[in-house]
Amino acid sequence: MKITINGITCETAAGQTVLQAARANGIYIPSLCYHDKTGVAGKCRVCVADVEEMRGLQATCNLPVKEGMKVNTRSEKALEAQRLVVDLLLSTGSHDCIACEKNGNCELQDAAYYLGIEHPGIQYADVKTGLDESSAFIRVDRGKCISCGRCVAGCNNVVVNEVLDLGWRGHETSIVFDTDSLMGESSCVQCGECVQLCPVGALIEKKAIGQGRSWELEKIRTTCPYCGVGCQLYLHMKGEQIVRVTGVEDGAPNKGRLCVKGRFGYDFIYSTDRLTSPLIKENGAFREATWDEALNLVAKKFKKIIAESGPDAIAGVSCARSINEDSYQMQKLFRAVIGTNNVDHCART
Ligand code: FES
Repeated sequence: MKITINGITCETAAGQTVLQAARANGIYIPSLCYHDKTGVAGKCRVCVADVEEMRGLQATCNLPVKEGMKVNTRSEKALEAQRLVVDLLLSTGSHDCIACEKNGNCELQDAAYYLGIEHPGIQYADVKTGLDESSAFIRVDRGKCISCGRCVAGCNNVVVNEVLDLGWRGHETSIVFDTDSLMGESSCVQCGECVQLCPVGALIEKKAIGQGRSWELEKIRTTCPYCGVGCQLYLHMKGEQIVRVTGVEDGAPNKGRLCVKGRFGYDFIYSTDRLTSPLIKENGAFREATWDEALNLVAKKFKKIIAESGPDAIAGVSCARSINEDSYQMQKLFRAVIGTNNVDHCART
């Protein structure tokens, strides 16, 4: 079906909302609490528009498209309402963009830019504060929280860890962990889904702080090197250094979700302790060896064990970080060549 948004004819499909149709047609409508993964929250009211033959402003994230619908997100009334919400959010938080990690990648900043809000019109003295640095990988800055609830919906409905909630009321409304514990003392498993969904700088990867501005980073898509699920992720690189890792939202199998290892466990690649050549133990101490020497030794010992005790005296455990083809060959070697079904995989953690 066809609708018009700001005078532009847009192709849409039944079941879409006006916000989804606008995004699909490259039209920006400021929005903060809606995310494709967490769905409609209808809380922030930034996405409002005038719709012909409908009374009052409509939240476009919650408005299904209808054939011939005429939407105006830039009417005086709609812009005034959008500005008021963004202005109030800026006024009641400590949105110090200059030093904020989200600068250049912040949905509140984008909305303020679009609406031409350079300074908050009102400045409340009692802006929210509260820095929680207690957890291993995530910094919580309540001064920047806009209470959109995306992190809460993600924690409860997407990854179903059920740790986050919105606590307190009114101006005091704030995300809480379990029954208002520090994040580091709560049952949070640090999967970072809340960080992935946060539209502002309230939830930030600690390791990324000060490591690079968003516009300096190159996003490289790859597959997580840990278990065999094959989660898709982006490495945000500054030169040769990983600054942060995010999940690929539109990619199967994880749709943006990652576990603590995939999102935060990348330091090992820079470790000087990594083995770069095989080691052979002699008289209780390891010494470096060539691959030929190491493989010959293993083959000799396998043959000896098989001759003495049969093939079932041997087991093969392959590495979860191996590619599929290598794991396939490993089990083929053990089943067809050595003659045992003792094969396993290290991703049983
Ligand atoms: Fe529509 Fe928040 S995005 S109400």
